[in-house]
Amino acid sequence: MNQVLSILSICATANFLAACNAPAEQLADVAHKTQFVMDPHSYARPEEAVTTHLDLDIHVDMKQHRITGTATYDLKRQSGDSVIFDTYGLTIDKVVLGDGMPAAFTLGAKDSILGQALRVALPPGADKVSIAYSTGPEAKALQWLLPAQTGDKQFPFLFTQGEAILTRSWIPIQDSPGIRITYNARVTVPKELMAAMSATNPQERSTDGVYSFKMDQRIPSYLIALAVGDIHFKATGSRTGVYAERGMVDTAAWELADMEKMVEAAEKLYGPYRWGRYDVIVLPPSFPFGGMENPCLTFATPTIIAGDRSLTSLVAHELAHSWSGNLVTNATWDDFWLNEGFTVYFEHRITEALYGKDYNDMTSLLGYQDLLGTIAEIDSGKHPEDTALHLHLAGRDPDDGMTDVAYEKGYAFLRVIEGKVGRPKFDAFLRGYFDHFAFRSITTDTFKTYITKELLEPANVALNMDEWIDRPGIPSNILIPVSDKFTKVDSVLAQWEKGTPAKDLATQGWGTFEWMHFLRHLPAGLKEAQMDQLDAAFRFTDSSNSEILAAWLEQCVKNDHAKAWPKLEEFLTTVGRRKFLVPLYGELKATPKGRALAMRIYAKARGNYHSVSVGTLDQMLAWKDSKPPVAF
Ligand code: BES
Ligand code: ZN
Repeated sequence: MNQVLSILSICATANFLAACNAPAEQLADVAHKTQFVMDPHSYARPEEAVTTHLDLDIHVDMKQHRITGTATYDLKRQSGDSVIFDTYGLTIDKVVLGDGMPAAFTLGAKDSILGQALRVALPPGADKVSIAYSTGPEAKALQWLLPAQTGDKQFPFLFTQGEAILTRSWIPIQDSPGIRITYNARVTVPKELMAAMSATNPQERSTDGVYSFKMDQRIPSYLIALAVGDIHFKATGSRTGVYAERGMVDTAAWELADMEKMVEAAEKLYGPYRWGRYDVIVLPPSFPFGGMENPCLTFATPTIIAGDRSLTSLVAHELAHSWSGNLVTNATWDDFWLNEGFTVYFEHRITEALYGKDYNDMTSLLGYQDLLGTIAEIDSGKHPEDTALHLHLAGRDPDDGMTDVAYEKGYAFLRVIEGKVGRPKFDAFLRGYFDHFAFRSITTDTFKTYITKELLEPANVALNMDEWIDRPGIPSNILIPVSDKFTKVDSVLAQWEKGTPAKDLATQGWGTFEWMHFLRHLPAGLKEAQMDQLDAAFRFTDSSNSEILAAWLEQCVKNDHAKAWPKLEEFLTTVGRRKFLVPLYGELKATPKGRALAMRIYAKARGNYHSVSVGTLDQMLAWKDSKPPVAF
């Protein structure tokens, strides 16, 4: 049920159009009223007082690992005598009102997931508050890297990760995806470093270490992001470019050469890119995700730099979020599939336009395999209801519900609709959907009502929408992807199983996806000699492609192939991408010997991981040590 608390008319000004190149009439809809829904993961009460703009002024102390500064907010008030922010581990020094007068404030009880509510008392008419604060040692969004933990090993590095509810650990904020703000920031960093944010960005160093940023489109809090380090820029086109550490920037620019074409393909599908520039920052290897769609500046893992441009569909995914997610946003984390399911669909449409149908059939089938694995895993756990698209995460860490279901079941659902109405109608619908809900946050119910009225009824199409959205499991009308290329891989695998030596197999011309499919489908219980034979023929252990290496290492663990342990240890202690860590540690912990190895490596590696990976792995490995992680 859509728990609408109240309706506020916001976004009456037009300054959010500034960085935008879309015709004005397409944007007229943004002046629509915003409905605030109950978000179980935020203390904020936007129906009483809601923030509309943030002016952030912070100092980044790379030695003390602390951010100190002020967050000044413009408020829109409706009722009540206070405004509530979310905080996590912040020290609040002082709160003043627009007129400079101190304001009374209280911090509520600590909740291990939600943090603490900061309630600021507001006299009648007060519409500005300024909060002086500093971050704590356990700021979950932040990862502070010592020089040794970076690619170049020369300078320290800091990056933030806001999604889902971590922004509150570095900015006091109304931290709900249903609340949107514009922001300006002034960030002071050590002179030898550069700062970049999810906003307009510098391309060169300033002389004094002070950087100014502007995001004049209304975004949810989880999209506010900051990176500080020895960052350099290189253009890949007129609107696109890459940031990275000095030693990585040329390599990254080569690898991501298709970015400009991706933006063009995306615009051709679903309308103008509305955020000005599209850049990617390639972060040090501990970044916990493949990518994060911070507006104007996608944050990415260096594990996509394979040397052959084969893993750049990740950029297509994060770029697609510039429409699904950043323009039209899930109103609560229960609606996460609206962000990710639509984005996977859009990502596939971009890569199909650029790389063709075979490519797409392969990635769709890999995704379907992931979905089956995830559903089996969820079904054997405590929350089998998490295989529904629409989640119910109240009382839980939203991160726990963010699985492949949102991505791949969401994608499969949209493919079913596309199949029923045909591509032209579905494309027109999506284009209209992005325009209609642009710069708004919506619930699953809003989507249901909209698609029924705008697409299903006019096309006279029957759809088992509730089964797809609200029930667990996979509905029987899923369209299972078929890939001719993978059928060929299957027959090569069969030949190997029948005794053809690995070096004589017909693997010429295979790319990353064929190898992933091959590795995922090796038979169980391989002998040492068979593993040796495969590695001698295909040099998996030496692969510089992270997807191939990770899939191979998983097989090594399953088959107790001890020769790969040095590589496994090197991988697990340098790469912090959760998607790779979880299956590897998961396989390791399945046997007593593997578990011992896992614990030894984890003790050494834990200090290199971001809090989101640490959170998942501590739980998985029942890690007991309460000492703060030590970096090596
Ligand atoms: N928005 C997500 C990352 C995310 C999800 C952060 C949940 C926090 C909570 C991002 O767009 C994403 O989906 N990244 C994927 C890559 C993609 C190609 C599927 C990843 O990191 O693996
Ligand atoms: Zn995504």
